[in-house]
Amino acid sequence: MTPEEISKQLRKPEGENGLYIAESMNKLSSKLIRLNYKEISKMPGDNILEIGFGSGFFMKELFEMGNERVIGLDYSETMLDEARKINNEFIQKGRMELYHGPAHQMPFEDNSIDKVVTINTIYFWDEPEIILREIKRVLKCEGHIAIGIRNEETVKHLEFTRHNFEFYSTSKVEKLLLENGFEIVSSKTIQDNEYDANCIIGKARMD
Ligand SMILES: C[S@@+](CC[C@H](N)C(=O)[O-])C[C@H]1O[C@@H](n2cnc3c(N)ncnc32)[C@H](O)[C@@H]1O
Repeated sequence: MTPEEISKQLRKPEGENGLYIAESMNKLSSKLIRLNYKEISKMPGDNILEIGFGSGFFMKELFEMGNERVIGLDYSETMLDEARKINNEFIQKGRMELYHGPAHQMPFEDNSIDKVVTINTIYFWDEPEIILREIKRVLKCEGHIAIGIRNEETVKHLEFTRHNFEFYSTSKVEKLLLENGFEIVSSKTIQDNEYDANCIIGKARMD
């Protein structure tokens, strides 16, 4: 795959190449995903929504971390099919629901979600303000969001980031949250081989 194709597949994995990319993401992102899952799971509430779950390989760990109900949303049909296969046991038990759709228009009621987690997705959002407004709509009053990113500094040498990819730093995510109805609860960074893994937690402001 060319760097441009890799970026396109990371944005929205589709078909055989999409499945291949999803498997690579699972290998490369486990530490970043688990950091964000762990931090958001400390926040109060029973249900959690993951936006952009990829193959959903790690989602079952959210139950082990104390969440009662797991909801997922992704606009890639390839990822939805894969995540449904991987998590079939929990879907059958009625503990997990996976939906197809875009983050800027989610099929959820106002004030219905306790926590949102989204990892390695914000770089691909053309209008993050609109998505954050939508997240705030579905979050309960004082609900929490965890945004997982790699900092610009550690990924800017990767060729695919030159194609339709918006760089972020923890301070840029914090600013975006503050400007879009959230307060900052915490920012955590850990080392992940040659990368960094970041988790920024925001809380929906009552305004
Ligand atoms: C780079 S992958 C990250 C997957 C996983 N979170 C990880 O860190 O390994 C981005 C995922 O988010 C989904 N996605 C990106 N933007 C989205 C949007 N605006 N609405 C819904 N899903 C989105 C893609 O389809 C893909 O499954």
